[in-house]
Amino acid sequence: MAEQTVRRIAPAKGRLGVLCVGLGAVATTFIAGVENIRRGAAKPIGSLTQMGTIRLGKRTEGRAPLIREFAPLADLNDLVFGAWDPVPDDAYTAAVRAGVLDRHEHLEPIGEFLRNVKPMPAVFDQSYVKRLQGSNVKPGKSKRELAEALRKDIREFKAKHGCDRLVMVWCASTEIFISPGPTHWTLDAFEKAVDANDQTIAPSMLYAYAALQEGVPFANGAPNLTCDFPAMEQLARDKGVAIGGKDFKTGQTMVKTVLSPMFKARMLGVAGWYSTNILGNRDGEVLDDPESFKTKEESKLGVLEYILQPQLYPELYGKIFHKVRINYYPPRGDNKEGWDNIDIFGWLGYPMQIKVDFLCRDSILAAPLVLDLALFFDLAQRAGLSGIQEWLSFYFKSPQVAPGLYPEHDLFIQQTKLKNTLRYLMGEEPITHLGIEYYQND
Ligand SMILES: NC(=O)c1ccc[n+]([C@@H]2O[C@H](COP(=O)([O-])OP(=O)(O)OC[C@H]3O[C@@H](n4cnc5c(N)ncnc54)[C@H](O)[C@@H]3O)[C@@H](O)[C@H]2O)c1
Repeated sequence: MAEQTVRRIAPAKGRLGVLCVGLGAVATTFIAGVENIRRGAAKPIGSLTQMGTIRLGKRTEGRAPLIREFAPLADLNDLVFGAWDPVPDDAYTAAVRAGVLDRHEHLEPIGEFLRNVKPMPAVFDQSYVKRLQGSNVKPGKSKRELAEALRKDIREFKAKHGCDRLVMVWCASTEIFISPGPTHWTLDAFEKAVDANDQTIAPSMLYAYAALQEGVPFANGAPNLTCDFPAMEQLARDKGVAIGGKDFKTGQTMVKTVLSPMFKARMLGVAGWYSTNILGNRDGEVLDDPESFKTKEESKLGVLEYILQPQLYPELYGKIFHKVRINYYPPRGDNKEGWDNIDIFGWLGYPMQIKVDFLCRDSILAAPLVLDLALFFDLAQRAGLSGIQEWLSFYFKSPQVAPGLYPEHDLFIQQTKLKNTLRYLMGEEPITHLGIEYYQND
């Protein structure tokens, strides 16, 4: 039974700086979105922290406050934004270029605000993101120098903007696939590898390392390894900082983690699942490189295995043919189309099919996740929760978990975990959905 005392949570006073690594489609849609919402020009649709409620106590009590009124989250008016990007465009230019938000309705009216968000020079190395070039790059040659330069940026941003606290969210391009190896096992080995400019230390790891060293929580929105290895987990615990990732769970994978628990709940078999996407934004272009795609593919493929548990149900899920494709198709821009063909089978083995055609907008789905992650990671930090924040796996395709645990991918288990963690933090009873008390007379 979880302890029922209210956990000591430092108040959300002063400004919260949200540092985005990458100022592309997702980051600009997030920043411009928050500013439009603050000015009353739009609603925070898709954001659990802003629109969601949480049931407290018994169903008969009728207590369901808004999450943002229940938990002490930072107020949107207290957010300030910073970013790094190898492309020098300010947030206005980058948002216009990304083509997600309507220029006249959502960008021009806040043009001056967006133009003031200028990217700091990035730690960028093209060998980790092949399809990208940029001129706004830090000159430092050694990885140690670059990590120190990021730490300096963090401190200077905090002082310049008078921030009380900071959080960092990776909204940058997907790096090439890197398998965790000996340089990632221990903090000592990792630091030596940084000093030796080892190839297994990617730029994203330097951002995460700098954030943790500065006591700044770090959330990873892309599938890169970044902070998902023992050395970084150790550093997070040592420094008392919250970390988590990987890869925002938005379109097709969100649908997958809702449909597959349904098949398992009803003991329906799955013979094959073919997922394909067309996408025309810069993310699509980066993912067109096989090495970046491999990172994404690993993140997308994992979910079915964990949810369907073929080892427990070999007759139902032992022979699934699972394929994921992303094709770069410029005419669609950020408006992705994702098709799923699912071959299932039922009673006596009779086959059936389900087709999903999701015409989504990638950054419209991802932007509210960036907001929620920034606010919840800040809450976690103020509540003294350090290391991996598994309760936020709701937001990730490939959630980081403690060693020896398998990740929970089912969206509704993740949602229950998230809400129960909020109840736990605020000293309320977790909700088990047992409900027997409504039917017992004695
Ligand atoms: N939109 C979604 O639904 C979604 C879902 C899951 C994950 N993601 C991931 O989120 C990330 C951002 O997506 P996007 O559509 O905004 O892509 P984008 O290409 O529009 O923006 C990424 C930005 O990161 C910058 N960048 C690359 N390397 C960098 C570095 N080392 N330091 C700082 N900046 C760097 C690029 O110049 C670019 O401006 C991608 O990795 C994508 O795979 C997006």
